[in-house]
Amino acid sequence: MNTSGETDAVWVHTEPYSKRPNFPKLSNDLTTDVCVIGSGIAGISTAYELVSRGVKVAMIEAREVVSGESGRTSGHLSSALDDSFVDIASKHGDSGAKIAAESHQWAIRHVGEVSKKLGIECEYRMLPDYEISQYERSHPKHAEELQEIQKDLNKAKDLGLAVSFRPDYAIKGWTGKVDQRDVGVYEEQATFHPTKYLYGVMKWLAQQPNFECYTHTRMASIKEKGILTTKEVQVSTLDGHTITCKDAVEATCIPLQKLSVVAQVEYFRTYCIAIRVPRGSYEDCLINDQADPYHYIRFTHCDEKDDYLVIGGGDHKVGQEQENGRFAELECWVRDRYTQAGSVDYKWTGQIFDSADAVSFIGLNQGKSHTYIVTGDTGHGLTHGVLAGRLIADEIQGVTNAWGTLYNPKRLPPLSTLPSMLAHDLQINAQYKRFAQSDIRDIEDLAPGDGGVLNTGTKKPVAVYKDEQGKVHRFSALCPHLHGVVCWNATEKSWDCPVHGSRFSKDGVQIIGPSIAGLSPEDEAGEVSQKQALGE
Ligand SMILES: Cc1cc2nc3c(=O)[nH]c(=O)nc-3n(C[C@H](O)[C@H](O)[C@H](O)COP(=O)(O)OP(=O)(O)OC[C@H]3O[C@@H](n4cnc5c(N)ncnc54)[C@H](O)[C@@H]3O)c2cc1C
Ligand code: FES
Repeated sequence: MNTSGETDAVWVHTEPYSKRPNFPKLSNDLTTDVCVIGSGIAGISTAYELVSRGVKVAMIEAREVVSGESGRTSGHLSSALDDSFVDIASKHGDSGAKIAAESHQWAIRHVGEVSKKLGIECEYRMLPDYEISQYERSHPKHAEELQEIQKDLNKAKDLGLAVSFRPDYAIKGWTGKVDQRDVGVYEEQATFHPTKYLYGVMKWLAQQPNFECYTHTRMASIKEKGILTTKEVQVSTLDGHTITCKDAVEATCIPLQKLSVVAQVEYFRTYCIAIRVPRGSYEDCLINDQADPYHYIRFTHCDEKDDYLVIGGGDHKVGQEQENGRFAELECWVRDRYTQAGSVDYKWTGQIFDSADAVSFIGLNQGKSHTYIVTGDTGHGLTHGVLAGRLIADEIQGVTNAWGTLYNPKRLPPLSTLPSMLAHDLQINAQYKRFAQSDIRDIEDLAPGDGGVLNTGTKKPVAVYKDEQGKVHRFSALCPHLHGVVCWNATEKSWDCPVHGSRFSKDGVQIIGPSIAGLSPEDEAGEVSQKQALGE
């Protein structure tokens, strides 16, 4: 697995894995100012800010750099937030909504500034974001949705964003008969090639004397040491090494812990395809409709003749549904609207984390005084990751940052979110029903390359993977986090937990938390393949 799934995202088309910057595995104990755990956009942005300010940083990464969700995104940098500004203001007041708008707008510009300063060619460009109705103009709900879009535009305008409404606007390249004209416009949005950008920043970091990075180095625990006040933080790795530091930043997408913010986040899989469109045949823009789940569109370079239209959507809760024609639905959606569309060259999925109160968690972790977290991307993990870099660097250095209160992981959820949090808790608890279910009746039912949970009712459920050669590998199906029963994800060949979204490779190795550990092997084949996958 090159990233957190078996499929490849479109970004490898122009930036293959062979261009990835390489770093050694940690082979000794070390002492530093800040240990950053995880090399996605949040970890890299935090390291960039701290290293630029002269702070000594050691980064550790369980796999290769940029092998998490940041390598599988759709690449928009947007302040047109998924949860409308009307909604954010209702939960965090106008002042909170203003901070959200300002901080995301800062992040959009910052990526442009950093790529220019470091000379990174990453297709960064500013463009408009079009919010459209999911319905055709002839449908009565078209007008209803436009009213909602306009309400949000008015709010965004009050918060200082450059927005407008363009009735009748037909997006260039939308040549199909489906007529969804009329757009709400968010100006000054951007897109880029996330992998080129992140590899570029990592290459710059690698040249700095106050930066070191270790890959295939998996964090096993973080402990704040000291009596009454924390004197140092110790980050231990699975291989038994210790990094002693003043502060640690857990940039692992979701913190690897039992509960607190973990329970305040909802976990979704989202689907993307990249489809060829002739260069020059379309308007370079971002498009989002109002469906639930919504469709999102952006473009990226393909070759001399074509570019790629990237469309995403089809979201569902982790481990609770399968692909079930979602890629085909996205393809049809595009072909009905962009009749010049050519072949579909990439199909991939990824994980998104929606916070209950529509805002990420960035800052000191609950109950901690020197351990920082970044999580709950809420559809905007790229901008959240970039702004987290500045916010966490400021907090570590004791610089007052006005964004801190909004994103504070120690904040109390607004009262208005209690009903949805309760529903979320019930939904999570209902997932334990899998204890009474079996996906397969017999191992013989599995085709090579397939997996499923076998639950005989008399013993603990077993996650069974039959490899391409027909050899069976067994693991405990109980997620080490809080004992949900995992499900087989046939698209990404992983075991996904329907409770809090932890994921494990077909060999049972942890891919995404909150579980810190992998699935326990239940036979020798499972043990051997897991050791191999961990490089032992
Ligand atoms: C299909 C898709 C499309 C998206 N589109 C957009 C978009 O257009 N715009 C946007 O703003 N957001 C988008 N997002 C969200 C965004 O991509 C993510 O929120 C963001 O990349 C998360 O970055 P991160 O640095 O927090 O986590 P990651 O990129 O996942 O990085 C975490 C890193 O931590 C490492 N790690 C985990 N555990 C350990 C451990 N124990 N020890 C050491 N290292 C560890 C992982 O290996 C990984 O490399 C999208 C997401 C998906 C899946
Ligand atoms: S992720 Fe919490 S039980 Fe599996």
